[in-house]
Amino acid sequence: MKQISTIGVLTSGGDAPGMNAAIRAVTRSALCAGLKVVGIYRGFEGLINNECGELTTQSVSNIIQRGGTILKTARSKEFMTAEGRKKAYQTVKRYDIDALIIIGGNGSLTGAEIFAKEYDIPCIGIPGTIDNDIYGTDATIGYDTALNTIVEAVDKIRDTACSHDRIFFVEVMGRDAGFLAQNSAIAAGAEAAIIPEEHTTYDQLDDFISRGVRKNKNSSIVIVSESPASGGIMNYADRMKQAFPDYDVRVTILGYLQRGGKPSAYDRILASRLGVAAIEALQEGQRNVMMGIDNDKVVYVPFSRATKMDKPVEQELINILGVLSN
Ligand code: F6P
Repeated sequence: MKQISTIGVLTSGGDAPGMNAAIRAVTRSALCAGLKVVGIYRGFEGLINNECGELTTQSVSNIIQRGGTILKTARSKEFMTAEGRKKAYQTVKRYDIDALIIIGGNGSLTGAEIFAKEYDIPCIGIPGTIDNDIYGTDATIGYDTALNTIVEAVDKIRDTACSHDRIFFVEVMGRDAGFLAQNSAIAAGAEAAIIPEEHTTYDQLDDFISRGVRKNKNSSIVIVSESPASGGIMNYADRMKQAFPDYDVRVTILGYLQRGGKPSAYDRILASRLGVAAIEALQEGQRNVMMGIDNDKVVYVPFSRATKMDKPVEQELINILGVLSN
């Protein structure tokens, strides 16, 4: 097995608060271990197009508190092609990169898995996405911050909803996973969460709202996951207007503000732990695994499991919201 002396690090897919803290942790722990660090810009796109630069301790100072990613990111279509990966490998050779650290979501880890197999280059993944939809880790970098951003926004919406006696439908991100929707609904005291995993029917939704109406609640908040599988926020809002014509229904789509902002302390610590663990894993001879957190312990999850297994929203969380919104 080739001795590792230079590593490449990149961020890929949707940015997530805490990615900078992960870049910092990877860089500083690699330097501490005597490795050279090459930063790759714009994810796999940068690997294809040779956009790299050496990272030093100073390059990563004053970034732990910053949202986004100093390395920039992209969703590379070209890397999904064999031709694109061939070009990427030429960059790996040009910079004498012996191993890659990939910070990103499911798609990025899948790309890493294919690349690692095709070119026999050791890859270590660090889960970074606000969606928290990666199997094998209790949390992904960015999820906690995004969840807090949503809750803060919904608290504000609640003020105006109460003042006007309105029903609000609030759309949150999460791609095909309902973690952000389900947990923000619990934390913000919403009446219901519509998540892709649950297939909420209109009748169930009517029931949630009429329970509130019966109890003379003067406002209702329903969190709707963005996934089309959940039916789409406008459909639900229109249905509500028909079912409860006396109620004022409003829709708010939180959008990209959920991806920005300073990372929470939790995300900074998670990113620091997983970044340091990634370098330790490489030194232990680990290959093609994702760093995860399980019961507050760092674990190594093979890419084949992390990228292919489903991570369900726990039934307990669904039950809790049902009980508490009663
Ligand atoms: O994966 C993170 C995420 O923000 C999802 O929640 C959302 O569906 C998607 O990225 C949006 O992607 P893009 O930045 O390409 O519009």
